[in-house]
Amino acid sequence: MEYLIKQYPLEAGALEIQYIEEFFWEFPRKKTAAEIVARLSNRDFLILMAEATLPDDPAGTIVPVSFKIVHEIRASETEPKLADLVARLRGAVAFEGRKVLYNWIGGTRSDWRGQGHFRALTEESEAWAHASGYHEVVVKTKNRFYDMRGTLDQLQFDVVKYEPNAANNRDSKVYLSKQLTSAVLRSHTSRRTVTQV
Ligand SMILES: CC(C)(COP(=O)(O)OP(=O)(O)OC[C@H]1O[C@@H](n2cnc3c(N)ncnc32)[C@H](O)[C@@H]1OP(=O)(O)O)[C@@H](O)C(=O)NCCC(=O)NCCS
Repeated sequence: MEYLIKQYPLEAGALEIQYIEEFFWEFPRKKTAAEIVARLSNRDFLILMAEATLPDDPAGTIVPVSFKIVHEIRASETEPKLADLVARLRGAVAFEGRKVLYNWIGGTRSDWRGQGHFRALTEESEAWAHASGYHEVVVKTKNRFYDMRGTLDQLQFDVVKYEPNAANNRDSKVYLSKQLTSAVLRSHTSRRTVTQV
């Protein structure tokens, strides 16, 4: 299978992500386009969307089915959420003299899960990151996001930190990372066609 991926510039991408997030019941607080623009302005980022044809549609309509946003994260972050993330990663992820990427948000619409779209987006982001000189990619999830944890396991992310939530262990945070070596690129399996919007 050939995965169809679109890479978006900032404003158009933010609107597309705001739109696709409406299809995710798992996300209690969906990101607005304005939030996405504010987060990604003045930093390196990648907005990717996988598309597929609607099943049983004679017109062969193509719809967005999976998305992923990754962005640069630095030791010197001043935006409160990112500064907090960097502080929590201290001791688990080395920032000095290295380029670190953050897997910010992503998901696949329920009807298209298990078809490799998220692997294709992840592999595309890793190929881009490696070519852009990134050393490591980090991601944060929670105990209760079992689909995401299973997926990150299959994508060979390593747990680097566990942050227990005393009130409810299912809300405990799990931080994972992957070193972006050339071996990672050689392990990629998806065939992808990428279009720049
Ligand atoms: C997690 C999610 C993005 C996976 O998307 P997907 O398009 O179904 O993933 P893929 O089909 O590309 O699967 C990638 C790999 O993960 C595995 N995988 C996917 N879902 C899995 C699950 N629920 N449990 C275990 N493994 C899983 C696949 O088998 C595949 O492995 P392989 O390529 O080695 O065979 C999707 O289930 C989702 O959007 N879930 C909701 C998002 C969410 O809860 N986010 C919370 C915030 S972190």
